[in-house]
Amino acid sequence: MKIKIVNPPSIDDYKKALVYINKGIINGAFKHLATKEPYNKDIVFEWHKKSLNGTPQIGALVNGTCVGMAHIDVEHGRRSVNGYLAITVNPEYQNNKIGEKLIASILLEAQKIGLVRITAEPCSDNQRAINFLKKNGFKEEGIMKCAFINDEGRLIDRLIMRIEITENCREQCV
Ligand SMILES: CC(C)(COP(=O)(O)OP(=O)(O)OC[C@H]1O[C@@H](n2cnc3c(N)ncnc32)[C@H](O)[C@@H]1OP(=O)(O)O)[C@@H](O)C(=O)NCCC(=O)NCCS
Repeated sequence: MKIKIVNPPSIDDYKKALVYINKGIINGAFKHLATKEPYNKDIVFEWHKKSLNGTPQIGALVNGTCVGMAHIDVEHGRRSVNGYLAITVNPEYQNNKIGEKLIASILLEAQKIGLVRITAEPCSDNQRAINFLKKNGFKEEGIMKCAFINDEGRLIDRLIMRIEITENCREQCV
């Protein structure tokens, strides 16, 4: 499978991504994402606007179709050293190392804008994402209790996972 990583994805890539993200939600594959409503076009355009503003955004294309995306939200604007990761791969294309490629690219972009660490917050029952994040260098650092409501309406914990992308950052930390 030939995977092309694009940075940032074009508006057309986002539109195609919108199709699979909604499909994913209908199929239940995205139930772990922290949203109660399917993504709509406004959110997709918001992502695109952010990418134009310099927030890291990466898309993965297979035969010209966008099958995966990753982005990093930076809290508190320019002074923040912490970014939040969101990453999704179309269920039909998972387990082909698309996620691995997306994460490698997005972490490089995060380094370029001076972030020190990236945080991911998978639900505690999302073993697929937890394994994936660990495999790609993330470590568990805590639990947010009752931080998500699942499809059955039950509250569920979320893990806090981090990766440090500035070498020896903890030595500089007071
Ligand atoms: C997490 C996600 C982005 C990974 O994308 P991907 O392209 O499949 O990732 P890769 O092919 O690079 O890696 C797959 C890894 O996922 C994990 N994994 C895959 N299927 C799994 C399963 N059924 N059970 C547990 N772990 C699983 C494994 O660590 C696997 O690596 P391995 O095959 O070497 O063991 C994708 O599963 C996804 O979009 N999930 C839904 C959205 C989501 O949960 N995002 C993360 C929120 S923090």
